Amino acid sequence: MSHEGGERAKFSGHIGFVLAAAASAVGLGNLWRFPYLASHYGGGIFVLIYIIVAVTFGFSLMIAEIAIGRKTGKSCIHAFGDLARKYRWLGVVCAAIPIIIVAYYFVIGGWVAKWFIETAAGHLSDMSGYAGNYWWDYITGEISGLGDPMIWFFVFAGLCFVCVIRGVERGIERVSKVLMPALLVMIIGISAYNLIALDGIWDGVRFYLSPDINELTGGTFLGAISQVFYSMSLAMGIMITYGSYMRKDVSIENSVRNISLIDTMVAIIAGLMIVPPAYIFGMGDEKGMGLMFEAMPDVFSGMPGGEVIAPIFYLLVLFAALTSAVSLLEAVVSVFSDARNRRRNRSIVLALIVLIPLGILVVLGFGPLMTDLHPFDQGAGILGIFDTVTNSIMMPIAAILTCVFIAVVIKTRTITDEVEAEGAEFRSKRMFEVMIKYVCPIMLSFMLVLGLADMFGIFSVYRGASQRI
Ligand code: TRP
Repeated sequence: MSHEGGERAKFSGHIGFVLAAAASAVGLGNLWRFPYLASHYGGGIFVLIYIIVAVTFGFSLMIAEIAIGRKTGKSCIHAFGDLARKYRWLGVVCAAIPIIIVAYYFVIGGWVAKWFIETAAGHLSDMSGYAGNYWWDYITGEISGLGDPMIWFFVFAGLCFVCVIRGVERGIERVSKVLMPALLVMIIGISAYNLIALDGIWDGVRFYLSPDINELTGGTFLGAISQVFYSMSLAMGIMITYGSYMRKDVSIENSVRNISLIDTMVAIIAGLMIVPPAYIFGMGDEKGMGLMFEAMPDVFSGMPGGEVIAPIFYLLVLFAALTSAVSLLEAVVSVFSDARNRRRNRSIVLALIVLIPLGILVVLGFGPLMTDLHPFDQGAGILGIFDTVTNSIMMPIAAILTCVFIAVVIKTRTITDEVEAEGAEFRSKRMFEVMIKYVCPIMLSFMLVLGLADMFGIFSVYRGASQRI
Protein backbone atom coordinates (compact mmCIF):
# COMPACT_ATOMS: atom_id res chain seq x y z
CA MET A 1 0.00 0.00 0.00
CA SER A 2 1.46 3.40 -0.85
CA HIS A 3 0.73 6.65 0.90
CA GLU A 4 1.77 8.95 -1.88
CA GLY A 5 -0.56 10.61 -4.35
CA GLY A 6 -1.21 9.59 -7.92
CA GLU A 7 -2.68 6.24 -8.80
CA ARG A 8 -3.53 4.47 -5.57
CA ALA A 9 -1.78 1.23 -4.82
CA LYS A 10 -4.35 -1.36 -3.80
CA PHE A 11 -4.48 -4.19 -1.31
CA SER A 12 -3.92 -7.45 -3.06
CA GLY A 13 -7.38 -8.91 -2.52
CA HIS A 14 -9.91 -10.02 0.03
CA ILE A 15 -7.50 -11.66 2.46
CA GLY A 16 -4.90 -8.90 2.14
CA PHE A 17 -7.49 -6.26 2.87
CA VAL A 18 -9.09 -8.09 5.78
CA LEU A 19 -5.75 -8.86 7.43
CA ALA A 20 -4.44 -5.33 7.10
CA ALA A 21 -7.63 -3.80 8.49
CA ALA A 22 -7.84 -6.40 11.27
CA ALA A 23 -4.21 -5.88 12.29
CA SER A 24 -4.87 -2.20 12.79
CA ALA A 25 -8.23 -2.77 14.50
CA VAL A 26 -6.93 -5.36 16.96
CA GLY A 27 -4.97 -3.49 19.58
CA LEU A 28 -5.24 -2.05 23.04
CA GLY A 29 -8.95 -1.62 22.46
CA ASN A 30 -9.43 -5.37 22.54
CA LEU A 31 -6.82 -6.27 25.13
CA TRP A 32 -6.90 -3.35 27.52
CA ARG A 33 -10.13 -1.41 27.12
CA PHE A 34 -12.72 -4.10 26.50
CA PRO A 35 -11.87 -6.18 29.59
CA TYR A 36 -11.94 -3.26 32.02
CA LEU A 37 -15.18 -1.91 30.65
CA ALA A 38 -16.73 -5.38 30.81
CA SER A 39 -15.60 -5.69 34.43
CA HIS A 40 -16.90 -2.27 35.32
CA TYR A 41 -20.22 -2.28 33.49
CA GLY A 42 -21.79 -5.51 34.58
CA GLY A 43 -19.92 -8.43 32.97
CA GLY A 44 -22.15 -10.60 30.78
CA ILE A 45 -24.71 -7.90 30.10
CA PHE A 46 -21.99 -5.62 28.80
CA VAL A 47 -20.63 -8.38 26.56
CA LEU A 48 -24.11 -9.08 25.18
CA ILE A 49 -24.84 -5.45 24.44
CA TYR A 50 -21.40 -5.00 22.94
CA ILE A 51 -21.99 -7.87 20.53
CA ILE A 52 -25.42 -6.57 19.52
CA VAL A 53 -24.08 -3.06 18.93
CA ALA A 54 -21.04 -4.37 17.03
CA VAL A 55 -22.98 -6.53 14.56
CA THR A 56 -25.63 -3.89 13.89
CA PHE A 57 -24.24 -0.33 14.36
CA GLY A 58 -20.59 -1.18 14.03
CA PHE A 59 -21.05 -3.40 11.00
CA SER A 60 -23.21 -0.83 9.16
CA LEU A 61 -20.95 2.11 9.92
CA MET A 62 -17.89 0.23 8.80
CA ILE A 63 -19.60 -0.66 5.51
CA ALA A 64 -20.54 2.99 5.03
CA GLU A 65 -17.04 4.27 5.70
CA ILE A 66 -15.28 1.74 3.50
CA ALA A 67 -17.76 2.32 0.68
CA ILE A 68 -17.25 6.11 0.88
CA GLY A 69 -13.50 5.57 0.69
CA ARG A 70 -13.64 3.17 -2.21
CA LYS A 71 -16.14 5.24 -4.17
CA THR A 72 -14.18 8.47 -3.89
CA GLY A 73 -10.70 6.98 -3.81
CA LYS A 74 -9.86 9.67 -1.27
CA SER A 75 -8.95 9.80 2.37
CA CYS A 76 -11.35 11.26 4.85
CA ILE A 77 -10.42 14.94 4.54
CA HIS A 78 -11.38 15.00 0.86
CA ALA A 79 -13.88 12.15 0.62
CA PHE A 80 -16.87 14.02 2.04
CA GLY A 81 -16.17 17.14 0.01
CA ASP A 82 -15.84 14.99 -3.07
CA LEU A 83 -19.34 13.60 -2.57
CA ALA A 84 -20.91 16.96 -1.70
CA ARG A 85 -18.79 20.08 -1.72
CA LYS A 86 -20.50 21.85 1.13
CA TYR A 87 -19.68 18.99 3.51
CA ARG A 88 -15.92 19.02 3.44
CA TRP A 89 -15.88 20.07 7.11
CA LEU A 90 -17.32 16.69 8.04
CA GLY A 91 -14.05 15.11 6.96
CA VAL A 92 -12.17 17.56 9.14
CA VAL A 93 -14.32 16.67 12.16
CA CYS A 94 -13.54 12.97 11.72
CA ALA A 95 -9.87 13.64 11.09
CA ALA A 96 -9.39 15.54 14.32
CA ILE A 97 -10.25 12.52 16.47
CA PRO A 98 -7.18 10.29 15.90
CA ILE A 99 -4.94 13.18 16.96
CA ILE A 100 -6.26 12.96 20.50
CA ILE A 101 -6.47 9.19 20.53
CA VAL A 102 -2.94 8.54 19.38
CA ALA A 103 -1.50 10.88 22.03
CA TYR A 104 -2.90 8.80 24.86
CA TYR A 105 -2.38 5.53 23.01
CA PHE A 106 1.36 6.29 23.21
CA VAL A 107 1.12 6.57 26.98
CA ILE A 108 -0.60 3.22 27.40
CA GLY A 109 1.83 1.67 24.94
CA GLY A 110 4.55 2.97 27.25
CA TRP A 111 3.00 1.17 30.20
CA VAL A 112 2.96 -2.07 28.21
CA ALA A 113 6.63 -1.59 27.30
CA LYS A 114 7.44 -1.01 30.96
CA TRP A 115 5.58 -4.16 31.99
CA PHE A 116 7.48 -6.10 29.37
CA ILE A 117 10.88 -4.87 30.58
CA GLU A 118 10.01 -5.36 34.26
CA THR A 119 8.78 -8.91 33.78
CA ALA A 120 11.71 -9.72 31.48
CA ALA A 121 14.06 -8.48 34.20
CA GLY A 122 12.51 -11.00 36.57
CA HIS A 123 10.52 -8.53 38.65
CA LEU A 124 7.18 -10.28 38.31
CA SER A 125 7.02 -11.12 41.98
CA ASP A 126 7.61 -7.47 42.96
CA MET A 127 4.57 -6.52 40.94
CA SER A 128 2.25 -9.26 42.06
CA GLY A 129 3.51 -9.18 45.64
CA TYR A 130 3.08 -5.42 45.92
CA ALA A 131 0.88 -4.37 48.79
CA GLY A 132 -1.52 -2.04 47.05
CA ASN A 133 -2.18 -1.09 43.49
CA TYR A 134 1.11 -1.39 41.60
CA TRP A 135 -0.16 0.05 38.37
CA TRP A 136 -1.82 3.07 39.98
CA ASP A 137 1.19 3.78 42.16
CA TYR A 138 3.43 3.47 39.14
CA ILE A 139 1.53 5.85 36.88
CA THR A 140 1.00 8.39 39.64
CA GLY A 141 4.75 8.44 40.30
CA GLU A 142 4.47 6.90 43.76
CA ILE A 143 6.93 4.11 42.90
CA SER A 144 9.58 5.74 40.76
CA GLY A 145 8.45 9.29 40.11
CA LEU A 146 6.73 10.53 36.98
CA GLY A 147 10.01 10.50 35.08
CA ASP A 148 9.73 6.76 34.58
CA PRO A 149 6.31 6.66 32.89
CA MET A 150 7.47 9.70 30.93
CA ILE A 151 10.50 7.85 29.64
CA TRP A 152 8.38 4.89 28.55
CA PHE A 153 5.95 7.19 26.81
CA PHE A 154 8.89 8.59 24.84
CA VAL A 155 10.20 5.10 24.08
CA PHE A 156 6.89 3.93 22.67
CA ALA A 157 6.14 7.15 20.81
CA GLY A 158 9.69 7.11 19.45
CA LEU A 159 9.24 3.58 18.16
CA CYS A 160 6.07 4.59 16.34
CA PHE A 161 7.67 7.65 14.82
CA VAL A 162 10.66 5.63 13.65
CA CYS A 163 8.31 3.17 11.96
CA VAL A 164 6.42 5.96 10.21
CA ILE A 165 9.57 7.86 9.23
CA ARG A 166 11.17 4.78 7.78
CA GLY A 167 7.93 3.68 6.16
CA VAL A 168 8.24 0.13 7.42
CA GLU A 169 4.52 -0.63 7.33
CA ARG A 170 5.10 -3.52 4.96
CA GLY A 171 7.64 -5.04 7.30
CA ILE A 172 5.26 -4.62 10.22
CA GLU A 173 2.48 -6.25 8.24
CA ARG A 174 4.67 -9.23 7.51
CA VAL A 175 5.74 -9.71 11.13
CA SER A 176 2.20 -9.19 12.35
CA LYS A 177 1.01 -12.14 10.28
CA VAL A 178 3.07 -14.32 12.61
CA LEU A 179 2.85 -12.43 15.89
CA MET A 180 -0.88 -11.72 15.92
CA PRO A 181 -1.84 -15.40 15.65
CA ALA A 182 0.81 -16.12 18.29
CA LEU A 183 -0.86 -13.60 20.58
CA LEU A 184 -4.23 -15.20 19.95
CA VAL A 185 -2.90 -18.66 20.76
CA MET A 186 -1.36 -17.31 23.93
CA ILE A 187 -4.56 -15.61 25.07
CA ILE A 188 -6.48 -18.83 24.50
CA GLY A 189 -3.80 -20.83 26.31
CA ILE A 190 -3.80 -18.53 29.36
CA SER A 191 -7.61 -18.59 29.46
CA ALA A 192 -7.57 -22.39 29.36
CA TYR A 193 -5.00 -22.46 32.14
CA ASN A 194 -7.18 -20.16 34.26
CA LEU A 195 -10.20 -22.38 33.77
CA ILE A 196 -8.31 -25.47 34.82
CA ALA A 197 -6.12 -24.13 37.57
CA LEU A 198 -7.83 -21.28 39.38
CA ASP A 199 -10.14 -22.11 42.25
CA GLY A 200 -13.59 -20.63 41.94
CA ILE A 201 -12.92 -19.38 38.42
CA TRP A 202 -16.36 -20.44 37.23
CA ASP A 203 -17.96 -17.74 39.35
CA GLY A 204 -15.89 -15.30 37.39
CA VAL A 205 -16.80 -16.94 34.09
CA ARG A 206 -20.47 -16.78 35.02
CA PHE A 207 -20.10 -13.07 35.79
CA TYR A 208 -18.39 -12.50 32.47
CA LEU A 209 -20.56 -14.59 30.19
CA SER A 210 -24.02 -14.84 31.66
CA PRO A 211 -25.92 -11.58 31.30
CA ASP A 212 -27.56 -10.35 34.47
CA ILE A 213 -30.24 -7.79 33.74
CA ASN A 214 -29.82 -6.27 37.21
CA GLU A 215 -26.37 -5.11 36.20
CA LEU A 216 -27.76 -3.09 33.31
CA THR A 217 -27.24 0.67 33.60
CA GLY A 218 -26.94 3.62 31.25
CA GLY A 219 -23.23 3.15 31.63
CA THR A 220 -23.46 -0.32 30.10
CA PHE A 221 -24.88 1.17 26.91
CA LEU A 222 -22.61 4.19 26.79
CA GLY A 223 -19.56 2.08 27.49
CA ALA A 224 -20.49 -0.53 24.89
CA ILE A 225 -21.15 2.05 22.18
CA SER A 226 -17.92 3.92 22.86
CA GLN A 227 -16.08 0.62 22.78
CA VAL A 228 -17.52 -0.37 19.41
CA PHE A 229 -16.24 2.89 17.90
CA TYR A 230 -12.87 2.52 19.51
CA SER A 231 -12.26 -1.14 18.89
CA MET A 232 -13.53 -1.21 15.31
CA SER A 233 -11.62 2.01 14.52
CA LEU A 234 -14.80 3.78 13.40
CA ALA A 235 -15.96 7.39 13.19
CA MET A 236 -12.52 8.84 12.69
CA GLY A 237 -12.22 8.56 8.97
CA ILE A 238 -9.66 5.81 9.06
CA MET A 239 -11.82 3.15 7.46
CA ILE A 240 -12.53 5.66 4.69
CA THR A 241 -8.82 5.76 3.94
CA TYR A 242 -8.65 1.97 4.06
CA GLY A 243 -11.57 1.79 1.65
CA SER A 244 -9.75 4.07 -0.77
CA TYR A 245 -7.09 1.39 -1.11
CA MET A 246 -9.59 -1.41 -1.73
CA ARG A 247 -10.09 -2.99 -5.13
CA LYS A 248 -13.51 -2.85 -6.77
CA ASP A 249 -13.77 -6.60 -7.14
CA VAL A 250 -13.37 -7.31 -3.44
CA SER A 251 -16.66 -7.65 -1.56
CA ILE A 252 -17.09 -4.86 0.99
CA GLU A 253 -19.75 -6.76 2.87
CA ASN A 254 -17.74 -9.94 3.28
CA SER A 255 -14.62 -8.02 4.24
CA VAL A 256 -16.45 -6.04 6.89
CA ARG A 257 -18.08 -9.18 8.22
CA ASN A 258 -14.68 -10.82 8.64
CA ILE A 259 -12.95 -7.78 10.11
CA SER A 260 -15.67 -7.25 12.69
CA LEU A 261 -15.75 -10.95 13.49
CA ILE A 262 -12.00 -11.08 14.12
CA ASP A 263 -12.04 -7.90 16.17
CA THR A 264 -14.97 -8.99 18.33
CA MET A 265 -13.61 -12.48 18.80
CA VAL A 266 -10.24 -11.22 20.00
CA ALA A 267 -11.94 -8.85 22.44
CA ILE A 268 -14.15 -11.56 23.88
CA ILE A 269 -11.29 -14.02 24.30
CA ALA A 270 -9.09 -11.33 25.85
CA GLY A 271 -11.92 -10.64 28.25
CA LEU A 272 -12.13 -14.32 29.09
CA MET A 273 -8.46 -14.25 29.98
CA ILE A 274 -8.69 -11.16 32.22
CA VAL A 275 -12.20 -10.64 33.59
CA PRO A 276 -12.90 -13.95 35.41
CA PRO A 277 -9.58 -14.05 37.33
CA ALA A 278 -9.90 -10.34 38.12
CA TYR A 279 -13.38 -11.07 39.45
CA ILE A 280 -12.23 -13.82 41.78
CA PHE A 281 -9.21 -11.77 42.89
CA GLY A 282 -11.75 -9.17 43.95
CA MET A 283 -10.40 -6.51 41.61
CA GLY A 284 -13.20 -6.49 39.08
CA ASP A 285 -14.61 -3.09 39.68
CA GLU A 286 -12.12 -0.71 41.13
CA LYS A 287 -8.97 -1.28 39.09
CA GLY A 288 -10.48 0.32 36.05
CA MET A 289 -7.98 1.23 33.38
CA GLY A 290 -5.31 -0.72 35.22
CA LEU A 291 -7.09 -4.07 35.07
CA MET A 292 -4.79 -5.69 32.53
CA PHE A 293 -1.74 -4.40 34.38
CA GLU A 294 -2.95 -5.55 37.78
CA ALA A 295 -4.74 -8.83 37.20
CA MET A 296 -2.34 -10.43 34.75
CA PRO A 297 0.80 -10.31 36.95
CA ASP A 298 -1.22 -12.10 39.64
CA VAL A 299 -2.27 -14.75 37.13
CA PHE A 300 1.32 -15.22 35.93
CA SER A 301 2.78 -15.38 39.39
CA GLY A 302 0.64 -18.40 40.21
CA MET A 303 1.37 -20.12 36.93
CA PRO A 304 4.13 -22.70 36.42
CA GLY A 305 6.66 -21.00 34.15
CA GLY A 306 4.86 -17.69 34.67
CA GLU A 307 8.16 -15.82 34.94
CA VAL A 308 8.91 -16.74 31.34
CA ILE A 309 5.40 -16.51 29.97
CA ALA A 310 4.74 -13.01 31.36
CA PRO A 311 7.38 -11.17 29.30
CA ILE A 312 6.38 -13.06 26.15
CA PHE A 313 2.78 -12.06 26.77
CA TYR A 314 3.62 -8.38 27.27
CA LEU A 315 5.87 -8.43 24.24
CA LEU A 316 3.04 -9.70 22.07
CA VAL A 317 0.65 -7.13 23.54
CA LEU A 318 3.29 -4.50 22.86
CA PHE A 319 3.40 -5.57 19.28
CA ALA A 320 -0.38 -5.45 18.89
CA ALA A 321 -0.33 -1.96 20.40
CA LEU A 322 2.48 -0.93 18.08
CA THR A 323 0.69 -2.00 14.90
CA SER A 324 -2.40 -0.03 15.90
CA ALA A 325 -0.44 2.99 17.08
CA VAL A 326 1.57 3.10 13.88
CA SER A 327 -1.55 3.06 11.74
CA LEU A 328 -3.13 5.72 13.92
CA LEU A 329 -0.02 7.87 13.60
CA GLU A 330 0.07 7.22 9.88
CA ALA A 331 -3.53 8.45 9.74
CA VAL A 332 -2.61 11.65 11.58
CA VAL A 333 0.33 12.25 9.26
CA SER A 334 -1.77 11.75 6.15
CA VAL A 335 -4.44 14.06 7.51
CA PHE A 336 -1.79 16.75 7.91
CA SER A 337 -0.50 16.07 4.41
CA ASP A 338 -3.92 15.97 2.77
CA ALA A 339 -5.27 19.02 4.53
CA ARG A 340 -2.78 21.48 3.12
CA ASN A 341 -0.91 19.46 0.55
CA ARG A 342 2.09 19.38 2.85
CA ARG A 343 5.02 17.16 2.12
CA ARG A 344 5.19 14.00 4.17
CA ASN A 345 8.32 15.02 6.08
CA ARG A 346 6.76 18.27 7.16
CA SER A 347 3.61 16.48 8.24
CA ILE A 348 5.67 14.11 10.38
CA VAL A 349 7.36 17.06 12.08
CA LEU A 350 3.98 18.69 12.64
CA ALA A 351 2.68 15.44 14.13
CA LEU A 352 5.65 15.42 16.53
CA ILE A 353 4.98 19.02 17.54
CA VAL A 354 1.32 18.36 18.23
CA LEU A 355 1.39 14.86 19.68
CA ILE A 356 4.37 14.94 22.02
CA PRO A 357 3.05 17.81 24.21
CA LEU A 358 -0.38 16.15 24.31
CA GLY A 359 1.20 12.89 25.45
CA ILE A 360 3.30 14.68 28.08
CA LEU A 361 0.11 16.24 29.36
CA VAL A 362 -1.47 12.80 29.67
CA VAL A 363 1.50 11.48 31.69
CA LEU A 364 1.49 14.56 33.93
CA GLY A 365 -2.26 14.14 34.26
CA PHE A 366 -1.57 11.42 36.81
CA GLY A 367 0.84 13.62 38.75
CA PRO A 368 0.38 14.93 42.28
CA LEU A 369 -1.36 18.09 41.16
CA MET A 370 -3.96 16.21 39.23
CA THR A 371 -4.34 12.83 40.91
CA ASP A 372 -7.87 13.58 41.92
CA LEU A 373 -8.85 14.59 38.46
CA HIS A 374 -11.64 12.23 37.69
CA PRO A 375 -14.59 13.97 36.14
CA PHE A 376 -15.89 11.10 34.01
CA ASP A 377 -16.83 7.55 34.79
CA GLN A 378 -14.89 5.95 31.98
CA GLY A 379 -11.38 6.86 33.14
CA ALA A 380 -9.19 8.88 35.47
CA GLY A 381 -6.86 11.77 34.79
CA ILE A 382 -6.31 13.60 31.52
CA LEU A 383 -6.25 10.19 29.89
CA GLY A 384 -9.80 9.58 31.10
CA ILE A 385 -10.86 12.97 29.79
CA PHE A 386 -9.28 12.40 26.39
CA ASP A 387 -10.74 8.91 26.24
CA THR A 388 -14.25 10.00 27.15
CA VAL A 389 -14.27 13.12 25.01
CA THR A 390 -13.20 11.17 21.92
CA ASN A 391 -15.06 7.90 22.33
CA SER A 392 -18.22 9.10 24.03
CA ILE A 393 -18.67 12.57 22.54
CA MET A 394 -16.70 13.22 19.37
CA MET A 395 -17.15 9.81 17.78
CA PRO A 396 -20.91 9.65 18.37
CA ILE A 397 -21.18 13.15 16.89
CA ALA A 398 -19.04 12.16 13.89
CA ALA A 399 -21.11 9.00 13.45
CA ILE A 400 -24.45 10.81 13.68
CA LEU A 401 -23.30 13.38 11.14
CA THR A 402 -22.05 10.65 8.82
CA CYS A 403 -25.39 8.83 9.01
CA VAL A 404 -27.37 12.01 8.36
CA PHE A 405 -25.02 12.90 5.54
CA ILE A 406 -25.63 9.52 3.93
CA ALA A 407 -29.35 9.41 4.55
CA VAL A 408 -30.17 12.99 3.58
CA VAL A 409 -27.46 14.38 1.33
CA ILE A 410 -26.07 11.56 -0.77
CA LYS A 411 -28.81 8.97 -0.02
CA THR A 412 -28.18 5.40 1.05
CA ARG A 413 -28.37 4.36 -2.62
CA THR A 414 -24.93 5.85 -3.20
CA ILE A 415 -23.49 3.52 -0.60
CA THR A 416 -25.48 0.42 -1.43
CA ASP A 417 -24.63 0.82 -5.12
CA GLU A 418 -20.95 0.95 -4.22
CA VAL A 419 -21.26 -2.16 -2.06
CA GLU A 420 -23.01 -3.90 -4.94
CA ALA A 421 -20.43 -2.78 -7.51
CA GLU A 422 -19.42 -5.40 -10.08
CA GLY A 423 -22.40 -7.55 -9.20
CA ALA A 424 -21.46 -8.15 -5.56
CA GLU A 425 -24.29 -9.28 -3.34
CA PHE A 426 -25.34 -7.11 -0.35
CA ARG A 427 -27.20 -9.49 1.88
CA SER A 428 -27.72 -7.16 4.83
CA LYS A 429 -28.89 -4.28 2.68
CA ARG A 430 -32.21 -3.83 4.46
CA MET A 431 -30.61 -3.85 7.87
CA PHE A 432 -27.96 -1.43 6.65
CA GLU A 433 -30.57 1.04 5.43
CA VAL A 434 -32.63 0.89 8.58
CA MET A 435 -29.52 1.29 10.72
CA ILE A 436 -28.10 4.26 8.85
CA LYS A 437 -31.38 6.08 8.34
CA TYR A 438 -33.07 5.52 11.67
CA VAL A 439 -31.55 3.39 14.38
CA CYS A 440 -27.99 4.74 14.46
CA PRO A 441 -28.75 8.45 14.37
CA ILE A 442 -31.67 8.25 16.79
CA MET A 443 -30.05 5.90 19.30
CA LEU A 444 -26.71 7.69 19.15
CA SER A 445 -28.32 11.10 19.66
CA PHE A 446 -30.20 9.76 22.64
CA MET A 447 -27.07 8.24 24.14
CA LEU A 448 -25.09 11.39 23.46
CA VAL A 449 -27.62 13.51 25.34
CA LEU A 450 -27.55 11.05 28.25
CA GLY A 451 -23.78 11.04 28.29
CA LEU A 452 -23.52 14.82 28.18
CA ALA A 453 -26.16 15.20 30.90
CA ASP A 454 -24.09 12.92 33.06
CA MET A 455 -20.89 14.78 32.33
CA PHE A 456 -22.35 18.10 33.30
CA GLY A 457 -23.79 16.58 36.42
CA ILE A 458 -27.43 17.06 35.45
CA PHE A 459 -28.16 13.48 36.38
CA SER A 460 -26.22 10.27 36.61
CA VAL A 461 -26.74 7.40 34.25
CA TYR A 462 -23.91 5.44 35.78
CA ARG A 463 -23.93 3.23 38.76
CA GLY A 464 -21.60 4.52 41.51
CA ALA A 465 -19.98 7.26 39.45
CA SER A 466 -17.28 7.75 42.03
CA GLN A 467 -15.40 4.58 41.21
CA ARG A 468 -11.89 5.23 40.06
CA ILE A 469 -11.32 3.55 36.75
N1 TRP B 1 -9.03 -0.19 17.16
C1 TRP B 1 -7.76 0.05 17.78
C2 TRP B 1 -7.64 -0.82 19.01
O1 TRP B 1 -8.47 -1.64 19.25
C3 TRP B 1 -7.60 1.47 18.16
C4 TRP B 1 -7.85 2.35 17.03
C5 TRP B 1 -8.84 3.21 16.93
C6 TRP B 1 -7.15 2.37 15.83
N2 TRP B 1 -8.81 3.79 15.72
C7 TRP B 1 -7.77 3.30 15.02
C8 TRP B 1 -6.06 1.70 15.34
C9 TRP B 1 -7.32 3.57 13.77
C10 TRP B 1 -5.59 1.97 14.08
C11 TRP B 1 -6.21 2.89 13.29
O2 TRP B 1 -6.71 -0.68 19.75
